[in-house]
Amino acid sequence: MNITHIEHLGIAVKSIEACLPYYENVLGLKCYNIEVVEDQKVRTAFFKVGQTKIELLEPTGEDSTIARFIEKKGEGIHHIAFAVPSVPDALNEAESKGIQLIDKAPRGGAEGLSIAFLHPKSTCGVLTELCM
Ligand code: CO
Repeated sequence: MNITHIEHLGIAVKSIEACLPYYENVLGLKCYNIEVVEDQKVRTAFFKVGQTKIELLEPTGEDSTIARFIEKKGEGIHHIAFAVPSVPDALNEAESKGIQLIDKAPRGGAEGLSIAFLHPKSTCGVLTELCM
């Protein structure tokens, strides 16, 4: 897949505002963007840690997958996102190696990224995002 780095870690939270003091005042990271991704029913907040980002994910409705995740597992790490040069190529490779895909083709994510998810059943339990 030619993964270059961990693009971001997605962390499910009930409230971005409630978490900002920890990330900003304790860890000393700066939130540089807050953005709603309508089709995923989430509000996202971003922090940079080197070339990797932390992406806080707050549900915007009860039917958000993030709301269901928090209900089932509580707040915490939701997914890991790897940067690849080509999401379609990486998806083809994963599928050819027997990995179950959530997205057959890339879709739009936060920050103008093109993203696709691999199913945690096939990835040792970690929801895995590929992005470019
Ligand atoms: Co993500």
